[in-house]
Amino acid sequence: MSLAEQRAEFEFTAFGGPAGAEVTGLDLSVPLDAAAREAILEAFLAHHVLVFRDQDLTPEAQHAFTLNFGELENHVIRLADGKPPPLVHIISNLDADGQPTAKPYSHGNYFWHTDKSYHAIPSLATLLHAREVPPAGGDTLFANTARAYDRLDAATKARIADLRVEHSWEASRANTGNRPATEEEKRERPPVVHPLVRTHPESGAKCLYLGMHSSHIVGMDHEEGRALLAELQDHATRDDLVYVHEWRPGDLVMWDNRCTMHRADANYDMAAHRRVLHRTVVKGTAAPA
Ligand SMILES: [Fe+2]
Repeated sequence: MSLAEQRAEFEFTAFGGPAGAEVTGLDLSVPLDAAAREAILEAFLAHHVLVFRDQDLTPEAQHAFTLNFGELENHVIRLADGKPPPLVHIISNLDADGQPTAKPYSHGNYFWHTDKSYHAIPSLATLLHAREVPPAGGDTLFANTARAYDRLDAATKARIADLRVEHSWEASRANTGNRPATEEEKRERPPVVHPLVRTHPESGAKCLYLGMHSSHIVGMDHEEGRALLAELQDHATRDDLVYVHEWRPGDLVMWDNRCTMHRADANYDMAAHRRVLHRTVVKGTAAPA
């Protein structure tokens, strides 16, 4: 099938909920032309989460597709051999022997977050490609943080308008019960401060910006600030603001970290079923405003 034929056939179908649209009829292993890229970017801004069905991408092909949207991020975490993961890396519930385990190496992705908010310029987008998924469950949930901001009452909007939040790798590790950050990791990723209400650099929408990488609200009593962050996170992750993605093999899901939070759901027998996804992350282009 030629590129022109593909473009004629591929289409977007919005899920109609708080986020998400399905993209069918497009083979992402074929290089995109400018028109297809523009159509994807437009849908990405409108729907925040795009679900490309029926893909079969090598890591090289996923890397190439990701480059349509910016530069790829590197990672803080180190593998057992002390090296950073490759730019296309594996998210799975497999142990060192390749067997499914209920206690994967890192479980931070089961807590609400927006990717790499511990960077001064956090990630723009993340792409996950399903290679192996459980027969049911192992979902990924996406919360629309722009809509969450919109639905706050006026008094709360006024209260939080100028608040700033410290995010850090160290806080993230503590918040999720993972092993503490090492001194080297802390040096490599010192704390950063972001507005609690972040303006999306492209849409202009105001979005709540919080999640598991956040530590505290700058200048506010620590516990009071933590309680406010927890309250806002509960608000932002109500069922009516969340799209639940039920994975099918071959899905490639691409989401906007600037106006969503996400988390994996351990709603499957992790010790029995394999869940293997290939991940790429696109660097942001501007500090949150
Ligand atoms: Fe994530």
